[in-house]
Amino acid sequence: MKQDVRKKTPEITKLILAAAKKARRETSREAEPGLTKPIHWPVDCNIGPGLEGAIACESRIGYVNGSKGWLIYRGYDIFDLCAYSSFEEVSYLLLRGKLPTRRQLEEHKKTLVEYRFLPNTVRHLLSFPVQEMNTMAALRIGCMMMRQVLSWIDQESSRPLPRTAIGTDEDSIPMETEPWGEEHAVYEFKRKERKRPKDARETQDAGSGLQSCNRLVAGLPTLAAAIARIRQEKLPVEPDRELSHAGNLLYMMTGERPSPLHERIMDVALILHADHGMNASTFAAMVVASTLSDIYFSAGAGIAALNGPLHGGANERVINVLREIGDAKHVKEWYRKARARKRKIMGFGHRVYKAYDPRARVLGPLAKHLAKKDRATAHLYETARALEKEVVSTLGKEGIFPNVDFYSGIVYAAMGISPSMFTPIFAVSRVVGWSARVLEYLENNRIFRPRAMYVGPLDQKFVPIEKR
Ligand code: CMC
Repeated sequence: MKQDVRKKTPEITKLILAAAKKARRETSREAEPGLTKPIHWPVDCNIGPGLEGAIACESRIGYVNGSKGWLIYRGYDIFDLCAYSSFEEVSYLLLRGKLPTRRQLEEHKKTLVEYRFLPNTVRHLLSFPVQEMNTMAALRIGCMMMRQVLSWIDQESSRPLPRTAIGTDEDSIPMETEPWGEEHAVYEFKRKERKRPKDARETQDAGSGLQSCNRLVAGLPTLAAAIARIRQEKLPVEPDRELSHAGNLLYMMTGERPSPLHERIMDVALILHADHGMNASTFAAMVVASTLSDIYFSAGAGIAALNGPLHGGANERVINVLREIGDAKHVKEWYRKARARKRKIMGFGHRVYKAYDPRARVLGPLAKHLAKKDRATAHLYETARALEKEVVSTLGKEGIFPNVDFYSGIVYAAMGISPSMFTPIFAVSRVVGWSARVLEYLENNRIFRPRAMYVGPLDQKFVPIEKR
């Protein structure tokens, strides 16, 4: 492995530490007592539309303090992780629960490097019309192809016998689930691993444990980069064993070894996006896992949910908006019209943060740093700053500030990445959070099954079709 990229980029560490200092000066350091204690079921909480305020489970993975603007992974402040850690180390921390020793980190890096190589999956992906597809749809297909190639779940000999199969869905009865169901019932909490079939290949696993999570963490960058290349009518690039996770992602997308500056900035961006509480894509992944489906299906659900413009898809929309505005001097007028049309401003607002998003506190200065080196980036950055000023001066009092998606696109664009790849990059990082939270939830699994309040009629008389 090359020399630690952090040592080559002290200016980035300095920017992050300055952002941390500002954040700590502006926010007090106490946690929310109501949201940082063990649960005694049934739990009392005020639930708003969109499950706002609902408590779904306990977690030790990460904590978002929305009123103060903190983000914590396994007890460690996001600013410290950005300044002193690497994506590889953070993925170990989130998945395993503690920081690795030097030897453990080397082992983890080796595993991730091995799992970068997905020649068969990339070959399968090439048979789809990737250049015409939404990049997240293509990534999701790639994820399903990984499942096919790397797990033995669908092998005939790994299926449970019909007579041992019981439906996991409370709406189904055993008769309906025959002949294909799960061995577990809703009231069984602990997941049992299925036995490896004799004819499984050495490279295949059960599709559910830590090994599969590591495969996804290492493999999604290869798929995302292959998608980027195919869309540019170029051939996918083989992973480079010598490069870090972030450096290799950039290399596979652009075909060029990145500068230490770009490698470090990508590393920081990946750290910032790795986990974020029970956000929509994490929840989607957990809901799928709670049915005792597998981690590949969970990640597929996460990718699907992340794609939407209210979630990870906002980063691409932000760049489109900044380009639509065109120049900092047009911001006032554009914003006035957008407000008059009640248009939502992409990259602002958050369900949990009612303070400045700490991720935007880091990404903003990184975008500014890159803007010093490139005119096009400077132009976008100035427009973004002017828009931030307008939005915060009008909506800041309602708790609407820039979120993670506001500056990330400027950062990626400055590194030569096409907007259609912004959300896949988000997924490449967030797959760590999906995996960590799925593994944790399965320790005490209970199928997610909320209810809707039925407000329709109850006494309709059936009218035959010829009389309607
Ligand atoms: N621009 C203008 N007004 C906004 C915005 C915005 N970006 N966000 C919220 N508001 C207003 C909203 O119109 C509503 O006003 P009113 O009460 O008068 O109707 C109020 O604030 C509450 O908004 P909400 O949509 O009910 O809040 P929510 O918690 O359901 O939604 C959100 C959170 C992130 C979906 C929303 O803020 C939004 O749509 N933002 C723009 C899209 C975006 O940037 N998404 C990325 C989120 S962060 C990264 C990620 O998780 O992917």
